[in-house]
Amino acid sequence: MPRKEGRDKVTGAARYVDDMALPGMLHGATVRSSVARGKIKTISFGPGVDWNEFVVVTAKDIPGKNCIALILDDQPCLAAENVNHPEEPILLLAHAERHKLRKAVEAVSIDYEPLPSVHSMEDSERKSTIIWGNDNILKRYLVEKGDVDAVWKEAAHIVEGEYFTGAQEQLYIENNGVIAAFEPESGVTIWGSLQCPYYVHKALMALCDQPEDRVRVVQMETGGAFGGKEEYPSMIAGHAALLAIKSGKPVKIIYDRMEDMIATTKRHPSRTRHRTAVDKNGKILGGEIEFTIDGGAYATLSSVVLSRGTIHAGGPYYWPSVRIRTKAVATNTPPHGAFRGFGAPQSLFALERHMDRIAQVVGISPIEVRRRNFLKTGQTTTTEQTIQENIDLDGLLDRALDLSNYDAKKKRFAEENRNGKIKKGIGIAAFLHGAGFTGSGERYLNSLVGVEAGADGVVRVLVSSAEFGQGTNTVLCQIAAEALGLPYENVAIAQPDTNVVPNSGPTVASRTAMIVGKLVQSAATGIKETLAKSGLLGEDYTPDQFRIACREYIASHGALKSYSRYESPGNVYWDDEKYRGEAYAAFAWAVYVAEVTVDLTTYSVTVNDFVALQEVGKVLNPVLAEGQITGGVAQGIGFALYEKVVWHDGRMLNNQMTNYIMPTSVDLPPIRVFFEEHGNVHGAHGAKGIGELPMDGPAPAIVNAVEDATGVRFDSIPLLPEDLFEALGDKSGERDFLSPTRGMA
Ligand code: MOS
Repeated sequence: MPRKEGRDKVTGAARYVDDMALPGMLHGATVRSSVARGKIKTISFGPGVDWNEFVVVTAKDIPGKNCIALILDDQPCLAAENVNHPEEPILLLAHAERHKLRKAVEAVSIDYEPLPSVHSMEDSERKSTIIWGNDNILKRYLVEKGDVDAVWKEAAHIVEGEYFTGAQEQLYIENNGVIAAFEPESGVTIWGSLQCPYYVHKALMALCDQPEDRVRVVQMETGGAFGGKEEYPSMIAGHAALLAIKSGKPVKIIYDRMEDMIATTKRHPSRTRHRTAVDKNGKILGGEIEFTIDGGAYATLSSVVLSRGTIHAGGPYYWPSVRIRTKAVATNTPPHGAFRGFGAPQSLFALERHMDRIAQVVGISPIEVRRRNFLKTGQTTTTEQTIQENIDLDGLLDRALDLSNYDAKKKRFAEENRNGKIKKGIGIAAFLHGAGFTGSGERYLNSLVGVEAGADGVVRVLVSSAEFGQGTNTVLCQIAAEALGLPYENVAIAQPDTNVVPNSGPTVASRTAMIVGKLVQSAATGIKETLAKSGLLGEDYTPDQFRIACREYIASHGALKSYSRYESPGNVYWDDEKYRGEAYAAFAWAVYVAEVTVDLTTYSVTVNDFVALQEVGKVLNPVLAEGQITGGVAQGIGFALYEKVVWHDGRMLNNQMTNYIMPTSVDLPPIRVFFEEHGNVHGAHGAKGIGELPMDGPAPAIVNAVEDATGVRFDSIPLLPEDLFEALGDKSGERDFLSPTRGMA
């Protein structure tokens, strides 16, 4: 099926928010904190700017509550007395001419009384400076299964490791941007580049003190999101709305790349500590896992990211006993947020490096250690969820080894690596990814989906799920067309507009195809049933008969709509307190294999070949599914080998694409994507989520391959040439002249 919005995108007809203008529209800009933490003393407006021309908004102008309403509501929309991170928004300006804003922003000077700030997880844990709550801890979880304290004495080996992952920028092509308008009669309207219309809706009701029906949020065509447009759009929308309310005119705010990179969310940096008891054959007896993420200055979505990271920390393995202690700690940096994978890429990087470590200690292969510990149907996960579906991880592993020619390559590389400065390696990662909101999440969301048929026989899908490149529009239309037995062309999808579409939940967590898709399927079926019940349609019908039936129904009864609301599967049990039970209705399973070359002259790592094999239930659209996996693997390669945020006192220093380096197409290997389809009773046509899955596996597979090539352990990503140089340089001998002091030492 062709992409629903594909034609408009390639012809340039698609309208992004910056393509839109409203009469009398102003442009907005943000004055941000220059310090990491402090008290705001004075704000002064410097010379050389005609301040009468500008609309100025501070926290005092906020009609409602000064917060970005989300989970804890601890993040202000505009800092009032204190700032808690660099680039925190303090004041807003608007002017009819966009080019006048930069100078005006620079002419605002703010005096601070500096306060001590915290810039590492370790500093935050030390609690010598408390910057959030009583203890700097934004959220913690504890998962306990079995009696882990009893296993240490039985263990043949106790294997320990500590693993780190860095911040990562989402780097969507289109930066954050919105337009806000305020009309006294109708309230606030937002048009924006965003993932979750109802998140913005909720945030603006609180901020602007408006009832539900006086806030309207419309998602424009969105040029990528990757989680980066889950929470931040509420902030920028709030800013534009405040300027619009004060000025009485529509206001557009569009970030440039530097502002977007320095001020908005990134993937949480993480530290994972493993201590694992294994028997002499490498079978896991039990373990302790400590997983810590850096949440930044406010809680935002850290609890949700931590939750997914916690549940995925044990991977696709059977743990007879485990204790997983996790926490998100506060630092004085812009809040870290949602990014594809949502904590799982972090804790799975640690685990899949650690599995290779266990293999070495025990003296078995990386393949064997995984095989001996794979979960099997009927066994329980770390949260004691019994695996009901028929999984065959051994089979998945075998196929991945075959597809990558693993054994032959492993042997050949070992030979070839004996001489020369080019070292080759091959590494694997096995993992899982839960689809949908965690635990009771889907029950709380209580998603509602609508399908509407017009008198012309065209069916419209009504969901708040947004398209941002991943294929939502196409896949949901396919599902509705299939349910109604209509051609794909007869189904359209409504633009996500809170005045038009019901709240089908946020577009996150690999939930859209599986959970929203299933609701679309049943809502579409409802249309058919309504027509059948009113005697207008038989069991078999042509599109023409369907159209006539719709016309007749609408003529006598009015609008033809059908809704479907989420109902949690009866046997699902989740304990939020104990963090125990069915964490996800379904998991996707995967084995990835990376082949790398490490060049000991340039210290660069090149990924030469990549096999991504996954079991995803049912592939609904092969082209889009492959695209999701390819894109995720590319981002995973960036996470592993390229993308490093350089911090200075909580501020990103390299907020440009010239010095924050992401892989380009020439840096990428052939990414060979393969699927297995075992079905899933919880998803439309047996689908599982796949959006986030491909982000989890590449980094550990690649770093495992680098170790295979070099014989040196690397437990921290991003792994850049300078890190390899640092670790391997002394061994190559010839480089000593480059660094005389090291040579002397
Ligand atoms: Mo998100 S990281 O778009 O669930």
